[in-house]
Amino acid sequence: MILPIVQYGDPILRKRCQRVKAVTEEFEVLVKNMLETMHDAQGVGLAAPQVGIDVRLAVVDVSHDPECVSLLRVNGEEAQLEDIMPLVFINPDFELSGEKERMEEGCLSIREIRTEVKRPSVVSGKFGQLDGTEIELEADGLLARVIQHETDHLNGVLFVDRVSTAAKITLRGKLKRLKDVY
Ligand code: NI
Repeated sequence: MILPIVQYGDPILRKRCQRVKAVTEEFEVLVKNMLETMHDAQGVGLAAPQVGIDVRLAVVDVSHDPECVSLLRVNGEEAQLEDIMPLVFINPDFELSGEKERMEEGCLSIREIRTEVKRPSVVSGKFGQLDGTEIELEADGLLARVIQHETDHLNGVLFVDRVSTAAKITLRGKLKRLKDVY
């Protein structure tokens, strides 16, 4: 089922989401619906608060571009993107490293804006899985980028919060109008 995607201005996008304690049948349905919703919207990531649920869960699929990562290790071993896509993760716990890179970002909850955001290039840490296990993942490129963007959503942070001061000033009017529409 395709779910409605919450838009900028909705207070749920500003909440710090709760840890997932147990994977219920209802939760599995939510994951399935989020994957369907992300693919339907042609997005590369979607976090639970974007469909109105404040839990630490997100889905990612960057498999459209097999070249988008140069570093990918799962549980300490080199892996291929197709091995882990689409990636569903709960209660992420990771560290950031590497050079900061600029990359253009957008968001299914702020469709009117695309802008460059500077973020560290490498993510490494633990990502809870639906079967109760955790995977250790180390990645760079677009995958690291999307994981950071989606995890920000779980902390009530949006990509427009992370732009430069100059870009913030440029975006201010547009964001205010979006909020007023809401
Ligand atoms: Ni987003």
